[in-house]
Amino acid sequence: MSRSILAAGLAGALILAAGSALAQHHGHHGRDGSAPPDSRELIRFPEPLVAHTLANMRDHLAALQEISEALAGGRTDQAAKIAEERLGMSSLPRHGAHDVAKFMPQGMRDAGTAMHRAASRFAIEAQNAGATGDLKPALGAFGQVLGTCVGCHAGYRLR
Ligand code: HEC
Repeated sequence: MSRSILAAGLAGALILAAGSALAQHHGHHGRDGSAPPDSRELIRFPEPLVAHTLANMRDHLAALQEISEALAGGRTDQAAKIAEERLGMSSLPRHGAHDVAKFMPQGMRDAGTAMHRAASRFAIEAQNAGATGDLKPALGAFGQVLGTCVGCHAGYRLR
């Protein structure tokens, strides 16, 4: 395992840990069943960038659906390609990441980077699965990608 992949894995694990701590914090409902207090930090993006970001987010979710269907169908190369192009490091220019990054606090930027790295790591595991026939490491890496979505959503909101 290369050093950068190891580092990405560690960063992902840290984000996951932070995310699950936050998620637990948010998971409690009031005694009367009321919604839990919303302690996510409100981040102010210019309006066009809010719309752009939310559209990207919906594409992230669509990509996850396509990835899980590709995995279930044994199309591991396809799963890897979707992950790398739509969520991984290769997706950064496509997302206009440079435009939005300057409006993000550091923690949110780190959460975004963790997602891109986790997706690129998943892409490698999916390709490996094609060779080994063992899907488990790819499924684990897929879970880590989901964890980075959960982690950022637990901490930040745009509206
Ligand atoms: C760097 C932070 C961050 C990461 C990582 C992230 N999101 Fe989001 N996402 C947000 C924010 C902030 C919102 C807006 C939440 C709000 O204002 O209520 C959002 C909203 C969404 C929405 C709602 C879109 C809409 O039209 O309202 C979806 C769906 C979504 N994200 C999917 C994902 C998925 C899937 C992933 C992981 C593959 C992901 N996001 C990763 C920050 C992030």
